[in-house]
Amino acid sequence: MGVGVGVDVDVDGEVQVDGDDAARRHGEDLRVRPYAPDDLDALREVCLRTADVGADATGLTRWPDLVGDVYAAPYAVHDPELVTVVERAGRVAGYVIGCRDTLAFEAWCAGTWWPPLRARYRPAPGEAVRPFDAPLLHLVHTAPDPARPHLTTHPAHLHVDLLPVAQGRGLGRRLLEHVVRQLRDAGAPGVHLGVSAANTRAVAVYRRLGFDPLVDSGPAATGYLLGRSLSAEAAGPPTR
Ligand SMILES: CC(C)(COP(=O)(O)OP(=O)(O)OC[C@H]1O[C@@H](n2cnc3c(N)ncnc32)[C@H](O)[C@@H]1OP(=O)(O)O)[C@@H](O)C(=O)NCCC(=O)NCCS
Repeated sequence: MGVGVGVDVDVDGEVQVDGDDAARRHGEDLRVRPYAPDDLDALREVCLRTADVGADATGLTRWPDLVGDVYAAPYAVHDPELVTVVERAGRVAGYVIGCRDTLAFEAWCAGTWWPPLRARYRPAPGEAVRPFDAPLLHLVHTAPDPARPHLTTHPAHLHVDLLPVAQGRGLGRRLLEHVVRQLRDAGAPGVHLGVSAANTRAVAVYRRLGFDPLVDSGPAATGYLLGRSLSAEAAGPPTR
């Protein structure tokens, strides 16, 4: 049981998550529940507020919705049942997002999600693109390489983001184990994720939860590709 969460969070329906005694004294409560369509804007906001190596990226981008339109919203539209949110005082304070089949999702994005967004997310002629936006614009406007060997063994992927108020209370572990269980039950043999090397906390959490490097990134790596095999987990998740 992680610090600060008073009940088991098995997110099969609406689950009330009481904070620990200290949190309760401050009238704080956290609730984990399935995604609802009204949450879409809140997903974008949480995504933005955690997108700068885990911290708030507001001010780094020309388009506040861009990062959420890349890393959060399309998943919720494509596969809403694989999205679970954390709520605090009626506001979304975090989420975990799963994607069962990365290539199928990317094909859907190419045909359905990106076309209407490409005109919106385009710099004016001669306008300098901000460093934060450049890789995001690349994803909006360029088809990803389908030849990624890890997609054979780890075709699923995930994203998890909690606002500071929800961090460090065991919710990351519980949300991650929940979505991993969903992906395993959906038949995914493995799940991968990408994380900035500078996000040392997230890297530590993922490693703690059984995600290991899928490629040798080398000592100068700016990011890691981590994966967890699910096919051998029928008997239960790994323990560390
Ligand atoms: C990364 C994040 C999802 C982790 O969630 P969290 O709720 O803060 O983490 P938890 O409290 O559930 O901790 C999970 C486990 O990692 C361990 N852990 C947490 N931080 C750690 C650290 N800095 N070093 C080592 N272990 C750590 C915890 O002890 C816990 O292990 P245990 O359950 O065996 O005791 C969350 O902090 C977050 O959303 N950060 C901002 C956004 C972000 O960086 N997202 C990831 C982008 S790739």
